[in-house]
Amino acid sequence: MCGIVGYIGNRPAESLLLDGLKRLEYRGYDSAGIATLHEGQTYLRRAPGRLDNLKKRLQNNPALGNVGISHTRWASHGSPSEQNAHPHQFGNIALVHNGIIENHEELKQELQQLGHQFQSDTDSEILAHLIARYCEQTPDNFAKAIRQALTRVEGAYALAILDTKHPDILIGVKQACPLVVGIAEGENFLASDFPAVLSHTRQFYILDDGEMAILTASHIQITDLEGKRKTKEPITLNWSPAAAEKAGYKHFMLKEIFEQPQAVIDTLCGRLDHDKIEQAFLGIQIEHLSNIERITLIGCGTSYHAALVGKRYIEALAKIPVEVDFASEFRYRNPLIQNNHLVLGVSQSGETADTLAALKLAQSQNAYTMAVCNVLDSAIPRLCNQSIGTFYTHAGPEISVASTKAFTTQLVSLYLIALLLGKQRGTLNSKDLQRRLENLYSLPMLLEKVLEHEASIQQVAKNWLKSEHMLFMGRGFLDIVAREGALKTKEISYIHAEAYAAGEMKHGPIALIDDKMPVVVLAIKDYLYEKTLSNLEEVKSRGAQIIVLCNEDDQKLRSLYPDALLIPSCPPDLLPAVAILPLQILAYHLANLRGLDVDQPRNLAKSVTIE
Ligand code: M6R
Repeated sequence: MCGIVGYIGNRPAESLLLDGLKRLEYRGYDSAGIATLHEGQTYLRRAPGRLDNLKKRLQNNPALGNVGISHTRWASHGSPSEQNAHPHQFGNIALVHNGIIENHEELKQELQQLGHQFQSDTDSEILAHLIARYCEQTPDNFAKAIRQALTRVEGAYALAILDTKHPDILIGVKQACPLVVGIAEGENFLASDFPAVLSHTRQFYILDDGEMAILTASHIQITDLEGKRKTKEPITLNWSPAAAEKAGYKHFMLKEIFEQPQAVIDTLCGRLDHDKIEQAFLGIQIEHLSNIERITLIGCGTSYHAALVGKRYIEALAKIPVEVDFASEFRYRNPLIQNNHLVLGVSQSGETADTLAALKLAQSQNAYTMAVCNVLDSAIPRLCNQSIGTFYTHAGPEISVASTKAFTTQLVSLYLIALLLGKQRGTLNSKDLQRRLENLYSLPMLLEKVLEHEASIQQVAKNWLKSEHMLFMGRGFLDIVAREGALKTKEISYIHAEAYAAGEMKHGPIALIDDKMPVVVLAIKDYLYEKTLSNLEEVKSRGAQIIVLCNEDDQKLRSLYPDALLIPSCPPDLLPAVAILPLQILAYHLANLRGLDVDQPRNLAKSVTIE
């Protein structure tokens, strides 16, 4: 997602900032910019697209000075244009921002009434205006003006801020988005991620929420948002630059698994207003959805599994008939497109050839098209933006071939879409919507709880790492989770893994069971629990070795089956997102313990852009 680098010292800032941004490129971005201060002037340079575009601009118009801020932006509010790129400047203030300002509409209106005019479509620009106003009241105290301005702001932010009137100060503030201070001799840095400045320092302060860092070339002061000084212990990082990109995790996959609580927060960010869905930031033309009479969800691999869950959400909450198809099948089966038919493509990369072709086919037959996608402005969103639009998952870059955080954020996105459709059609009343949204807010915390079980899941992986085959089975949502768990297992551990709806076992697959077959039984205490337990008994009595995925408080299953993958109790709609985590972690450890290339499994590519 977006990256921040700031510098204050005695060296020219431009090249240091560009170098820092280069090191954050792996995170993905669609525009970049820098601002420096020199002799009372702000040098602001921005460009859409790759960093090279920004570099070209700087060759003709260098940014002078020994203090500066810079940013790579992955657009969320407004297109990836020069105007929307950061830094944003108003008056003496220039700033870069990661995060989302939830009350930006309200602040914007207020500032407009005071005569402010805005150049961009971003929420971030509003902050530059707001801080500049407070600076008028306390022109000698830049930090105080920022603190006062931030009392008006709701949302998530990591900020790096410059004031032409205070060229010897660089200020960083953090609230719910990462920001670190790099400590060096005669110079100091701000960064959203360690790799940006790791070649200059290994000593850091990691800012906590509600902390401000006031940097000069030789000094760092940390305060809270009331201005009270705080003492903090610096940390020393021994990571190599490559390890730093993985934030210290051994593999991107593990990092991305652990990023899921934050990724879900990012999907929800700006889209919910307590008990309402904020329609302005969904990215889709909601009014057209009221005509839809039928929906086909399409995708490949993990995205197809998310679509299977999406069908259940939409049918249950909005009562619209939904079919789900592999994109590769849909495009060649001469599908029946009817009036007011919506074809919704689910894709992390937005470049998957089959999904793209299937959506093109649907569009050519006058279906409405829409996407749930992670990568901004990729081919699928570009196509669907000619019709209903794109609901971005905002999961951040997913680098490991095995999809993890893309899946959970696709589920959250499809759930929000189902809620929206339900509300629009009156199949969901306000009270019910409110209750479900309240539950949704608890999802990041539930995911954190699953992540706490990593060590015990690793132990289960150790017990089964020599397996040649594995079978996963569940019912309801857990049938789909079982399929996704089997996909994860086979693609990275190369263990032959299959999934079956538990009730289907006796119609054929049970013939595979012998005493060498580990079976992962997904048995959560819900309305299908007893039925799943009967299916468990069926395979156990044929000799199967049982691994259970069950509730933390299920003492019965835990005592019978020590190889237990645990999840907390959760609202039924959230079950797929919660239950997939232990299976992702299991697959990861199976592959890692088998000494395999977890992030780049054989024969696979992250984006499948060919048929
Ligand atoms: O980028 P997409 O979501 O369209 O990709 C679809 C599949 O190729 C992808 O989900 C694949 O199955 C993953 N490697 C699974 O982990």
